[in-house]
Amino acid sequence: MYEVKVLSDKSRVLCAQGQSLLECLRHGHIHLEAPCGGIGTCRKCKVKIVEGQVKTLTGNQLFGSGDSVLACMVTPVSNVSLKWLENRMQGMQSDVAETETSTLGSINGPLGLSVDIGTTGISVALIQLLTKSIINQTSVVNPQVEFGGDVMTRAGYANKGEDELKILQKCCPKRHQ
Ligand code: FES
Repeated sequence: MYEVKVLSDKSRVLCAQGQSLLECLRHGHIHLEAPCGGIGTCRKCKVKIVEGQVKTLTGNQLFGSGDSVLACMVTPVSNVSLKWLENRMQGMQSDVAETETSTLGSINGPLGLSVDIGTTGISVALIQLLTKSIINQTSVVNPQVEFGGDVMTRAGYANKGEDELKILQKCCPKRHQ
């Protein structure tokens, strides 16, 4: 096991020998965009190695301090420190929860919640049903994007095995509890 330190957000995860950097970050609940599902084609999972060394999963090419690498294509061969290159996924904003505390007391009549779970985004709207007006709304990137930018890529990830299928199924509810 190697320790991977993410300097950008001061977190640490452990990485098993031969495990891709992307997978070990995911197991540590650190999420990067990975629209290609981790096959090395989208280049969205790029990170910068600050300390330590990684090697390619399919060869022995080594990368170290100062190198930018695709997290899905490399595995650590020592303890590693890295930085993000603008690809960290953002979490759900809390506009709706803020509305609940500040405005809901003055609203008469039933409320409805509209949730649109799309391939790339999840939108939530709080609606006053009598007037059919939107009280507040928010949206977030669908966290399944880290397993593929489209449905077919995600299906390919889910077909890798039972563990991958469960990870994908639990991805949305688990991330927003
Ligand atoms: S290149 Fe797409 S996830 Fe790594």
